[in-house]
Amino acid sequence: MEKKALTITRFKKMKQDRIPITVITAYDYPSACLAEEAGVDAILVGDSLGNVVLGYESTVPVTIDDMVYHTRAVTRGASSTFVVTDMPFATYHGSIDLTLKNAVRIMQEGLANAVKMEGGAEIVGAVEACVRAGIPVMAHLGLTPQSIHQIGGYKVQGKNSKQAQKLLDDAKALEQAGAFSIVLELVTEEIAELITGKLSIPTIGIGAGAATDGQVLVFHDILGYGSNIRTKKFVKTYANIGDTIRTGIAQYVREVKERSFPAKEHAFHLDEDELQSLYGISRS
Ligand code: KIV
Repeated sequence: MEKKALTITRFKKMKQDRIPITVITAYDYPSACLAEEAGVDAILVGDSLGNVVLGYESTVPVTIDDMVYHTRAVTRGASSTFVVTDMPFATYHGSIDLTLKNAVRIMQEGLANAVKMEGGAEIVGAVEACVRAGIPVMAHLGLTPQSIHQIGGYKVQGKNSKQAQKLLDDAKALEQAGAFSIVLELVTEEIAELITGKLSIPTIGIGAGAATDGQVLVFHDILGYGSNIRTKKFVKTYANIGDTIRTGIAQYVREVKERSFPAKEHAFHLDEDELQSLYGISRS
């Protein structure tokens, strides 16, 4: 059966039909091609690229230019998959004009299908403005990495009833503002279940347990792609390509040093006639 590309209408329908929504991050052309071939419902060009691709300590240094550049590579690779791109740090907190200018760049230059923004009631104005302009918005609550310096660490959110009530109120405000879906990151399974049950738009969990309408994980985390990847309780490692890459490169280095690569079959050769006219004699 041919897979239908996801739309924001289908996102909602999948929730109604209780079909789990699968999302993975991707940041470049090959990862996007592979994610699409593997059959994900949507790709998130997360600003987690700051950590896993650019080597920053947090997502704070990531710029709108970074996001546009990586989104363009992803949409070239996954042209049949719904692509959501993070609005990076502080690009949707100033004027509405500036918010729209940044979101429009992601849509027009990156060719994304939607943008994602972190935050609750405080970003409702930005969400409404984008939705009014025809830009679908995925919201993001719970642990919001762009506010890491304010939160003070990567901690589970919604652990007491007051925090839980705030998350629920924020989720409702974001749905009301027109968000088509909400990522819930690092929240207790109980609060994720409560929010999921109260909304008509789907929730996509990461470290939020099994009750959300979908799941999202970081490409590099589930594939062991990188060096010294910290294992996180909520991540399952499905492959270990970091080890495979390291072993492959080490063997290449060894073979070049030993002069066993390139072998005869990897070289290009002149025809015998051409060799003769070059040297004036046959070398065979
Ligand atoms: O940037 C990102 O990859 C994200 C996911 C962790 C949801 O926001």
